[in-house]
Amino acid sequence: MRVLVIGGGGREHALVWKIRQSPGVEKIYCAPGNAGTAELAENADIPADDIETLAQFARERNIGLTVVGPEQPLVLGIVDRFRALGLRIFGPTADAARLEGSKAFSKELMKKYGIPTADFQVFDDPAEAKKYARARKRIIVKADGLAAGKGVFLCKDLAQAEEAIDRIMTQKAFGAAGDKVVLEEFLEGREISLLAFVDGKTILPLEAAQDHKTVYDGDRGPNTGGMGAYSPAPLLTPGLLDRAMCEIMHPAVEAMAAENCPYQGILYAGLMLTREGPKVLEFNARFGDPETQPLLMRMESDIVPLMEACIDGSLNKHKLEWSGQSAVCVVMTAEGYPGNFVKGRAIKGLAAAAQLPGSAVFHAGTRLDGGNVLTHGGRVLGVTALGKDLPTAIGNAYSAVAKISWDGVHYRKDIGQRPA
Ligand code: AMP
Ligand code: GLY
Repeated sequence: MRVLVIGGGGREHALVWKIRQSPGVEKIYCAPGNAGTAELAENADIPADDIETLAQFARERNIGLTVVGPEQPLVLGIVDRFRALGLRIFGPTADAARLEGSKAFSKELMKKYGIPTADFQVFDDPAEAKKYARARKRIIVKADGLAAGKGVFLCKDLAQAEEAIDRIMTQKAFGAAGDKVVLEEFLEGREISLLAFVDGKTILPLEAAQDHKTVYDGDRGPNTGGMGAYSPAPLLTPGLLDRAMCEIMHPAVEAMAAENCPYQGILYAGLMLTREGPKVLEFNARFGDPETQPLLMRMESDIVPLMEACIDGSLNKHKLEWSGQSAVCVVMTAEGYPGNFVKGRAIKGLAAAAQLPGSAVFHAGTRLDGGNVLTHGGRVLGVTALGKDLPTAIGNAYSAVAKISWDGVHYRKDIGQRPA
């Protein structure tokens, strides 16, 4: 079978790497891909949100399975379009992807079905939103729509909340994504990422992973797409996983079916483990980046039959096998990220890092220039390694990181080591 992976980040390189291990797969294409996917797949120079060109490509190349990495094409309806053309594709429809694409939709759904989440209110008028903020101390302001991870403001006081509301709703920093805002209560606790395969009904959870969101060590600095991740994450004890499945994942999947938009694909719950139990920070309609990198290094099951079972509604016949080892991914970023960043720096040491056993260097923002690999994005590489336990995996990942360099490179030194 031929497989098409859509996207060009570290998550997509890890997906290509894992799919390539599936015995039934003869060829993989990646659109648009990066310098790393080019080693395992044939890159197709098509943007991830150009649905018509991707559909034409899938028909011409006789693609048996398309796997969507990023949220944008899902929210734009790539799954609906491919299905209408008789093409097999893994991911939720546009209606179902609203769980990620509209924070107002997902919060209202959680309220309606009693799924634990932060108290909130949705506004389409900035003056009303400010009035609500005035009555509260610490508040979170979120743009309703997709904002590439930048539409969430953790406000310490009223001035910050007013500024965030203005940026989103008046200055339209995120375009139409800011037509509405969600204001919500600040939740205290530790964060965890719980991902699951879903076929509309059956839910098969992956092992837990934890992401590190802020750019600097010690959870300081602005939020990013993710600076590193590790799995398993002992914070999510078996008891908490049970609660998250019973109180969050099952009710969410049942709610989507009841609302006539059954959910298929990966359902990713960003959870805050609060004193009262797990609460939803957000739902994502796709694999996490960088959580996917350590998760797929640990996943022993063939991923392709699982994706097909989600499409066919036969997930109840499957289970997931995991390596007992830990895996850690350290994200190496370009100078300036998450603000304006520098592109085009030559990356040194990739070959030396590739020789270390039990590690994999997943490319994100890279491109080939003749024989050289150049930086081409904010998050550049996700250096991932296995180890018999978490400290060993951390050591192995940083040994690989130490081999790699470019001008202005930055990475966190504390991935896998949460401050207490
Ligand atoms: P989101 O995209 O909604 O997950 O928000 C991005 C990040 O902001 C989360 O990963 C949390 O670190 C933080 N965050 C979002 N909502 C809240 C909340 N209600 N309380 C505390 N932190 C939050
Ligand atoms: N790692 C956070 C995300 O994928 O949204």
